[in-house]
Amino acid sequence: MEKEKCIDRRSDSNILPPNSYFLPIILFFCVLCAVCCVLSAVCCLLYAILAPMNIVLVGAQWGDEGKGKVIDVLTGEVDILVRYQGGHNAGHTVIADGKEFIFHLIPSGLLHKGKTGLIGNGVVIDPEALLEEMQRLKARGIDVRRTLKISDEAHVIFPYHKRLDILEESWRTGRIGTTGRGIGPCYVDKVARCGIRVADLCSKEFAHKLRQRLTEKNRLLRAMYGERPLSFQQLLGRYQGYAKALAPHVVHGPRFLQDAIKRGKRILFEGAQGTLLDIDHGTYPYVTSSNATAGGACTGSGVPPTAIHKVIGVVKAYTTRVGEGPLPTEFPNALMEQIRHRGKEFGATTGRPRRCGWFDAVVVRHAVCVNGIDAIAVTKLDVLDDMDTIKICTGYRDGKKQIREFPSDIDVLNRAEPIYETLPGWKAPASESTRWQALPMAARRYLKRLQTLLGVPICLISTGSKREQAFKTKHWFATG
Ligand code: IMP
Repeated sequence: MEKEKCIDRRSDSNILPPNSYFLPIILFFCVLCAVCCVLSAVCCLLYAILAPMNIVLVGAQWGDEGKGKVIDVLTGEVDILVRYQGGHNAGHTVIADGKEFIFHLIPSGLLHKGKTGLIGNGVVIDPEALLEEMQRLKARGIDVRRTLKISDEAHVIFPYHKRLDILEESWRTGRIGTTGRGIGPCYVDKVARCGIRVADLCSKEFAHKLRQRLTEKNRLLRAMYGERPLSFQQLLGRYQGYAKALAPHVVHGPRFLQDAIKRGKRILFEGAQGTLLDIDHGTYPYVTSSNATAGGACTGSGVPPTAIHKVIGVVKAYTTRVGEGPLPTEFPNALMEQIRHRGKEFGATTGRPRRCGWFDAVVVRHAVCVNGIDAIAVTKLDVLDDMDTIKICTGYRDGKKQIREFPSDIDVLNRAEPIYETLPGWKAPASESTRWQALPMAARRYLKRLQTLLGVPICLISTGSKREQAFKTKHWFATG
């Protein structure tokens, strides 16, 4: 009897209650899930580190948005910096370790050690200005002799371009307010198929090509403007000297970039000027002569559109423009002076005072559309710290008509009356914030409203000129 009991007890303990099977199964799946999570996190990390990431950075207003500062933040995440349009009309300011650097032709990312820069075929190069810039940088400890490459397909600016720029501007009814650096006339020659490229400058045929061009230009200068002709011999000697100095930097731009892409290098395309100064998509004719929009990165460097992964637009928390042309949200005089001085709104290239106005969401929506902007970097938020109220232009009124889309007709834009939305100011120093949550509540509300109006997230906020006065938001994309 006793034995039977014993057997029964043993068999009882062998039969587990149905519930006790669940525990190991659940444990097994938990472990499996944890392993999967870790693996996918590792994969994401590896992808972020190894995946190709070529970024175009564009100005989403009229230039001077503070692109230099954003480039400085992004440079740590890329290997190669490319300028793809414009010339030394541009001025990118970077403040690093308390020192101010202004770049005109050289990609500003070269401020960082170990980076390579390319001046692409879409840029127009004044060799004198470029060599001066190289020297200025060298004197301040940045030697670009090994790191700067120049595309042999870029066009060269000559003194006749500069003369023509100034003369055309002074004779024009309805001035554009150009920088007077010969940018427009050089692009005119490029499109008229009579320009001289870096490859020509460095070739044996240079003297012959220069003589041909100079004969034409001197004829024009004399007949149209009564100007004295430029000396061929002097120009030849000067430009042969430039050719010698620049020759070690010259490469075939598209091949250079293709090789870099194949080797897994990451590229940042540094747009100059801004969308509203783009020759096709800007406030024509009050524009520059190149494609400052994201598409220009392909034509101006020789990389295919399929090699571009992200487009970042840079905007100021308000609006500025230099030179002539419509600026619908322009401030009245007193406010203009206040913001101009607080924001140090004087051109980095010409020193001209910038015109300032409220943020124009119509303009930036247009920029988001034509550039395919993925995310926005907002600069100079701190300049609005003292405002009691802040306005955002959400549309225009043209007589009785309301306009929500950016008009192509310059006369409509000239007449346009902004429709404003008014938000409370934050009356606190935004410059002390190093993360989104630390920003004054009203500043966050302002930025959130911009995001909603533009339909794209804000990925970076800059609250001062120093390097450390900028922070990424949760919308920053993984670039490794
Ligand atoms: P250009 O580029 O010198 O022919 O000047 C044409 C227009 O573009 C003028 O209104 C200039 O003030 C403007 N512009 C050219 N480069 C810049 C820039 O880097 N920032 C702002 N405006 C610019």
